[in-house]
Amino acid sequence: MEFSIRSPSNIAFIKYWGQRNSSLVLPSNDSFSMNLSNCYTDITVERVEDPSVKEMIIKEFKTDEYTPATNAEMQKVLAYYDVAKKYLGVANDTGFRIRSANSFPKKAGIASSASFFSAMALAFTKIFGKDLDKKQLSILARLSGSGSACRSIPDGFSWWKASDNSEESYAESIEAPDYWDLRDIVLVLSFDEKKVSSAEGHQGAQTSRYFNIRQQALTSTLQETKNAFQMKDFTAFGTLIEQEAINFHSILMTQVPPLFFWSESTVRCIKEIVKLREDGLEGFFTIDAGENIHLICEGKNEAGFSEYFLKQEYVKEVIINSAAKGTHFL
Ligand code: DP6
Repeated sequence: MEFSIRSPSNIAFIKYWGQRNSSLVLPSNDSFSMNLSNCYTDITVERVEDPSVKEMIIKEFKTDEYTPATNAEMQKVLAYYDVAKKYLGVANDTGFRIRSANSFPKKAGIASSASFFSAMALAFTKIFGKDLDKKQLSILARLSGSGSACRSIPDGFSWWKASDNSEESYAESIEAPDYWDLRDIVLVLSFDEKKVSSAEGHQGAQTSRYFNIRQQALTSTLQETKNAFQMKDFTAFGTLIEQEAINFHSILMTQVPPLFFWSESTVRCIKEIVKLREDGLEGFFTIDAGENIHLICEGKNEAGFSEYFLKQEYVKEVIINSAAKGTHFL
């Protein structure tokens, strides 16, 4: 048995930061994201009868060759195999060979773990001979440890509900990809690997004295952002998600130990986006746990922004995304 899966990465407009339960990967708050059309992982999986065969090879962006996964990468896949086996209630072991390829540079600060583990959720379901609905598949993706992977399962724009109950914390599509002609223009400012993983970062979130204030404010922020989204009011929507990105980074900077991801280029880029906006080209930034910028704009302004940022020598790569469908078989 051999099959292929494509799964997108996603950008959160309202971020997941902090957990109610780390072993069950239950987030402190709801989050809301868009799947990315040009940042995805393709995996091809061969099911092997011999359970001792568990292999993975990886092809990096813009290379032609597949190379064996590192020990650390393999350990994560094997740990997730055990989680999936348990969640799916499977008794017998199985072997597999995986080929994985990303459509985007690995160290670009775009969550390759979200696209990879959402693809693996569907892959393990298939090799164990099970069939899950989208809700259960999203829960299984969440349990990979890369919680945001659960938002890559549904199509287009995803809403991940926070809950104390594992069966109630999953992502659902609130609109299809063609609902709104939005873009996420990823401005890669550095290919440096980040020193602290999100998994580690979540553990420290509650040490920020502003964490509870953020949590309280998020109830109305989430509602206002959803309203602006439903009304397709881009100015209101962009203003809210930009404020949210700054709010999220204030938590990072005030948790103990602090996480400070912004570089000189990040600040320069923020200022340029604000200036371009003042001059009439409307776009807003959001930033994940890294230094690269996600510039959110409407389709009509894509060319204006890409032409501008392609000319800036401090911008290493420009990746243009629209909203995309979720995890699916190829
Ligand atoms: C800042 O624990 O899902 O991107 O395993 O690296 O994908 P990875 O991270 P995860 O945390 C994501 C944190 C975030 C915000 C977000 O995507 O909601």
